[in-house]
Amino acid sequence: MGELQSATVSRGTPAAPVMGNPVNGRFGDFGGQFVPETLVPACQELEVAFTEAWADPAFRAELDHLLREYAGRPSPLTECARLSGELGCRVWLKREDLNHTGSHKINNVLGQALLARRMGKTRLVAETGAGQHGVASATAAALLGMECVVYMGEVDMARQELNVFRMRLLGAEVRPASSGSRTLKDAVNEAMRDWVATVESSHYCLGSVMGPHPYPWMVREFHRVIGEECAEQFRTNVGGSPDYVVACVGGGSNAIGIFSGFAEASTRLIGVEPAGGAAVGRGVPGIVHGMRSYLMQDEFGQVEEAHSISAGLDYPGVGPEHAHLSDIGRAEYHPVSDAEVIEAFKLLSRTEGIIPALESAHAIAWVSRERKRLAGSTVVVNLSGRGDKDVAQMMDILGPELQGGTPSSGQGGGS
Ligand SMILES: Cc1ncc(COP(=O)(O)O)c(C=O)c1O
Repeated sequence: MGELQSATVSRGTPAAPVMGNPVNGRFGDFGGQFVPETLVPACQELEVAFTEAWADPAFRAELDHLLREYAGRPSPLTECARLSGELGCRVWLKREDLNHTGSHKINNVLGQALLARRMGKTRLVAETGAGQHGVASATAAALLGMECVVYMGEVDMARQELNVFRMRLLGAEVRPASSGSRTLKDAVNEAMRDWVATVESSHYCLGSVMGPHPYPWMVREFHRVIGEECAEQFRTNVGGSPDYVVACVGGGSNAIGIFSGFAEASTRLIGVEPAGGAAVGRGVPGIVHGMRSYLMQDEFGQVEEAHSISAGLDYPGVGPEHAHLSDIGRAEYHPVSDAEVIEAFKLLSRTEGIIPALESAHAIAWVSRERKRLAGSTVVVNLSGRGDKDVAQMMDILGPELQGGTPSSGQGGGS
């Protein structure tokens, strides 16, 4: 099949605390380190380096400094009066769309780039779907003076042309992944192949909470800042904790980042998947890209193609910690359709003046659909990214409808 999945390390599986550190690289029955022999030392070296760096106050201070002065953290928690009025529940947005480069991806990338430099690596290899992780990786490489190669499916290169150009402008080389569905899954395969061949000088800057241990854990820790900030902002501005925290799930990094601030609270955690890429909803346990997790596959175990209107969620698997959180009932995962996402994209734009990334619009779509269930409650949505990258794609879809300045809802308008 060509996926990198030859099994190696998989020791015992004692239960880890909810959203605690993985035990032997496992979150319950999920996770692990299923990689070719050549990558085992690289994964082990990375685990040691991350563990040391994360315990080193100097590393933490340098990362905090970059997150503040370069990425623009803390991101605001914005209350949405008009959207709340329309939906009948109180909605806040955690504004990861306002970070430098336009999404949450920068949190993880700055962490991994600093770690790579600390490990003596001079080259970053990355995969990207929507292009946001690729842009963030190219940005961090430019900032730290590193070489950067980004793999991207040919289909995604066509629908996210703007981000391809941004990456090239930032000095990165963008290499097309032309096998399989020519989307994110295939870009991950190519990036892992590159890493196998260049591991001495390269760090694989993986863009979500997936892949072999230590990635799902390390990437979660780099995104923990979203949830910690958000919990504190909610406590200070509103009091207590929200009833619901909602986030879209591709690999699952923005969701796990915000969930990790509410692990101990009574807050209900909701992950929203695209109907055509609902790994938790439709998948069965399997192994892909170095991890055991829920995975959409056929009866022979072949990985099925995902489909989503948003390139960043077009992935048939999901990070192993989400599989675990679903199994133990701590988080719920629900699918939304592309049509619901398009309506949500328009809804947030016209009610709040905020154009969301199509990925983030999945979370809004669930809140909009479930407004009866949510009536009167407090809801925080992680707005993982801004919609600039999606405007050209949406012009094709919505262009005729919006011509003449008359939105289909009949509301808004004006100058
Ligand atoms: C804005 C945005 N949100 C969400 C995602 C999905 O990734 P994850 O599930 O790791 O947060 C992406 C991926 O490209 C993205 O660009």
